[in-house]
Amino acid sequence: MTVSHTNPLRVGLRQERVIAPQCLVIFGASGDLTHRKLIPALFELFRQRRLPSEFAILGCARRPWSDEEFRRRMAEALADEIEQHQSAWAQFEGCLFYEPVDLEQPADVVRLGTRLEVIDRQRATRGNRTFYLSVSPAFYGSGCRSLAAAGLLKDPTRSRVVIEKPFGRDYGSAQQLNRVVQAAGQENQVFRIDHYLGKETVQNILVLRFANTIFEPIWNRNFIANVQITAAETVGVEERAGYYEDSGALRDMVQNHLTQMLALTTMEAPGRFDPEAIRNEKAKVLQAARLANEEEPWKCCVRAQYGRGGSAVNPVVGYREEPGVNPQSTTETYVAMKLFIDNWRWQGVPFYLRTGKRLPKRTSEVVLTFREAPVHLFDAAGGSPTANQLILRIQPDEGAEFLFEVKAPGSGMRSRPVDMQFSYDESFGEPSDEGYVRLLADAMLGDPTLFTRGDEVEAAWRLYTPLLELIEDNPALLPIHTYEAGTWGPGAADNLLADDGLMWRRP
Ligand code: BG6
Repeated sequence: MTVSHTNPLRVGLRQERVIAPQCLVIFGASGDLTHRKLIPALFELFRQRRLPSEFAILGCARRPWSDEEFRRRMAEALADEIEQHQSAWAQFEGCLFYEPVDLEQPADVVRLGTRLEVIDRQRATRGNRTFYLSVSPAFYGSGCRSLAAAGLLKDPTRSRVVIEKPFGRDYGSAQQLNRVVQAAGQENQVFRIDHYLGKETVQNILVLRFANTIFEPIWNRNFIANVQITAAETVGVEERAGYYEDSGALRDMVQNHLTQMLALTTMEAPGRFDPEAIRNEKAKVLQAARLANEEEPWKCCVRAQYGRGGSAVNPVVGYREEPGVNPQSTTETYVAMKLFIDNWRWQGVPFYLRTGKRLPKRTSEVVLTFREAPVHLFDAAGGSPTANQLILRIQPDEGAEFLFEVKAPGSGMRSRPVDMQFSYDESFGEPSDEGYVRLLADAMLGDPTLFTRGDEVEAAWRLYTPLLELIEDNPALLPIHTYEAGTWGPGAADNLLADDGLMWRRP
């Protein structure tokens, strides 16, 4: 992709960092993620000329495919893309190889080692390997163990492991998984993906906060009254009931994506822009976070499930009627909660998190509401003045918005709110890379800044442990509400804020 030099804001947008020669090994190569996300992201990197010429992708799964079969299947999945870039594909597919491997079978992993040596010779990949575990989470631990046992992780400068979420399903299992993974290799070899960190606007939270002087002095309890973090989706559970039934919104979205947005919004400035400095600050703030009511956690959390909805023309089934879902399921597709962060910066500021499927609009945002002016000198056009708000729009419509009061035109002195907008699209024109493009490149570069470290993951699980235990041991205390598909969630979630005299922002 070329960078236009007509728009000065776009000049130098792609600062190139060079990916070393290497072989990317994808376990789970016959699965969904490989052809939906990974191969398209790699093809994009190839077209951007970001991949080295000494490069190979080795797909691995149990199916007895050949290299040709793997290439053919990937080509089928990317048919539309390839149609526009036929000659690029013709070159790219030469990097694709396949080896049938069952990670549980030591002999298979030894054979994999031999194949990698052959590829090193054929493609000059110099023994550098990134192992991507796109397999069921149940195999993360044993997968890392098998790779270590075959000696494939022994050089920390040449081998890395990338793991998809979920990392564990609660605090205990996350600790256990970290122990196994860290015994197989060093922490700096492990790249835990949270695809929200691949989003340009999530990374922009750091730049907005720490590259400007106007925000930091007011980014604290003295000026900020409350913070809302929302990740709303219009889709339902889709074809993923098998996974989702056992996960629910708390594990699927809150423990990872919403918590990452929370951490970036609230962390202290790192001493320098370096992966460990940033991840130290994120881990630190998460360790200071807690549910608003730890003694009675059911009072600060609402769980719900979507019921039927949609229109007469386009009806939508309720969660319990979705294929593969237990008709008596109590898995939440919506969750809202209130947290506090007990540190000097945030003491007393409520943080409200919510996420849900089948909501009216796909939107993710962080909303910081500032304290009201201490004295109201002017009448407000709408009755009462609107507090200043800074809205970080993560998606879609990536950008930021600032709401403030101005004088309403006319002879009186009434105030009314207006907003100031920044849009990535308008300012930069060029669409941002898909999250996986950025994250795969960073993993292959060995840059862990945008990956979650073991202690961060544990701190995040620990934060939600009282809720997870309650759901397990005393579900009646945290009953599952119902909301009509296509609405903004249950009334109980509105009450969570109404009790504090607040309302959810309507995106
Ligand atoms: C995934 C969840 O991690 O994130 C999905 O497993 C969810 O359930 C998805 O739909 C949302 O991601 P995005 O990028 O569309 O906001």
